[in-house]
Amino acid sequence: MTQIAVFVGSLSSSSINREFAQKLEALLPEGVTFQYANLDLPLFSVDTEANYPEEATANKQLVESSDGVLFVTPEYNRSIPGVLKNAIDWASRPWGANSFDGKPAATAGVSISPLGTTMSQQHLKNVLNYLNTKLLGQPELYLNQAALYGEDGEFKAETREFLESFLATFVAHIEANR
Ligand SMILES: Cc1cc2nc3c(=O)[nH]c(=O)nc-3n(C[C@H](O)[C@H](O)[C@H](O)COP(=O)(O)O)c2cc1C
Repeated sequence: MTQIAVFVGSLSSSSINREFAQKLEALLPEGVTFQYANLDLPLFSVDTEANYPEEATANKQLVESSDGVLFVTPEYNRSIPGVLKNAIDWASRPWGANSFDGKPAATAGVSISPLGTTMSQQHLKNVLNYLNTKLLGQPELYLNQAALYGEDGEFKAETREFLESFLATFVAHIEANR
């Protein structure tokens, strides 16, 4: 079994990124599962670090027990949404106990703009490199919401094929970097 921890960078009840992650889940190869992190966390402060919130500890445990981490994030003002950066900050602490250290990781994102979260993911990659994840370089997954789905609400055939190949590449990357 291969477990992938998924951080969806949105708390919106109608998040197009959560919807995408859930549809992506249906395309996972056999034996691979998604487990979602909870990003509804207090704001990080070193003042509360000595007394970790339960949800932040649960995210650390999720990352540590997973074989890889997938970030599916919107772009906010050409960068990473605060809720995602906050969740990453929590899981990177306390100093010396960075849960992302050495973890195979990949990024993806859906936007209502044609740029498809390029800037958000670029900033995210900067953070993930610093945190010493083993980051997948290609393929990149910058997605425009309007181009993703057909009239039936499911992935268009060519999109589905591309997403299946992304997942297969990411799983191979996880296997190669365990
Ligand atoms: C505060 C804020 C900033 C945004 N900034 C960007 C942006 O820089 N680039 C972009 O493509 N979309 C931007 N958007 C639009 C998002 O793509 C859109 O709201 C999307 O639905 C967010 O993803 P979600 O539905 O998964 O939460 C922004 C939205 C908000 C609320």
